[in-house]
Amino acid sequence: MQMIKLNNDLEMPVEGYGVFQVTPEETERCVLDALAVGYRSIDTAAAYMNEEAVGAAIKKCGIPREELFITTKLWVQDQGYDSAKQAVESSLEKLGLDYLDLYLIHQPFGDYYGSWRAMEELYKEGKLRAIGVSNFEADRLVDLILNNEITPAVNQIEVHPFHQQQAAKAVMDEYGVRMEAWGPLAEAQNDIFNHAVLKEIAAKHNKSVAQVVLRWHIERDVIIIPKSVRKERMEENLDLYDFSLDQEDMAKIAALDTGKSTIIDHHQVETVKMLNGLKIHD
Ligand SMILES: NC(=O)c1ccc[n+]([C@@H]2O[C@H](COP(=O)([O-])OP(=O)(O)OC[C@H]3O[C@@H](n4cnc5c(N)ncnc54)[C@H](OP(=O)(O)O)[C@@H]3O)[C@@H](O)[C@H]2O)c1
Repeated sequence: MQMIKLNNDLEMPVEGYGVFQVTPEETERCVLDALAVGYRSIDTAAAYMNEEAVGAAIKKCGIPREELFITTKLWVQDQGYDSAKQAVESSLEKLGLDYLDLYLIHQPFGDYYGSWRAMEELYKEGKLRAIGVSNFEADRLVDLILNNEITPAVNQIEVHPFHQQQAAKAVMDEYGVRMEAWGPLAEAQNDIFNHAVLKEIAAKHNKSVAQVVLRWHIERDVIIIPKSVRKERMEENLDLYDFSLDQEDMAKIAALDTGKSTIIDHHQVETVKMLNGLKIHD
């Protein structure tokens, strides 16, 4: 697996397996399949309600802990210094782990400054090997960086050919924050797998549209965590390292950018209300 170095020198697989919208019942099987076909990085979140099932797969898989890279995330309800510390303990318990490779603030809402201070302490104690954020627009990201000691290693945001995040990437590159794409396949929306331009590039390389899109992220040094519940697609999505896109392909894909979110826009008041309202425990 190709690795990418984070700003604290920790190496993270450039590609991992994401379990958003995988039901708790299906998650253990999916994670075991993903590990069997070669994924070593797993992306979950307290809010996905499947950390226990991810933990069950980790326990069963027989792969040494140090070969795995496990990410989970702090939900909005648990923002703040004390609750973030409790949330880390709760995630560790559910996952059956004594440290996390990467811990992210899931959303830029609530007292995320308090959460960040707690995460900085847990990072120094070694419980969190890297800390980062998710869904932070560039302005909030820079403000967090300027007012804290530790710069996030990663910002996990919506990135795909229809929302390429060029300006956000420039800011992250400036501050040494790795861009990690959620929805790397645009969550299968916009009929992406039948897009004429992507199909033409796929045919040229004798690859699938999914493989071309995922390879495009890799060419941009963006970390990817595609999700599929199907083992054959998990394998397909991992088979990206025997071809590369040329400048012409990259230019054609660059032209597909709409410059805005196609999945969830964090600037919308309704989004802020909805995510603040989502409770994951009592
Ligand atoms: N931080 C955040 O706020 C946030 C938000 C969303 C997601 N995420 C993370 O990012 C991960 C990936 O994003 P995502 O799950 O939203 O979307 P995604 O990976 O872009 O797309 C998943 C969709 O694509 C389909 N698919 C996958 N591989 C395919 C292939 N080779 N050919 C055709 N269809 C394929 C899947 O269907 P099947 O499953 O039926 O194969 C599913 O419908 C998540 O699982 C989660 O870990 C984070």
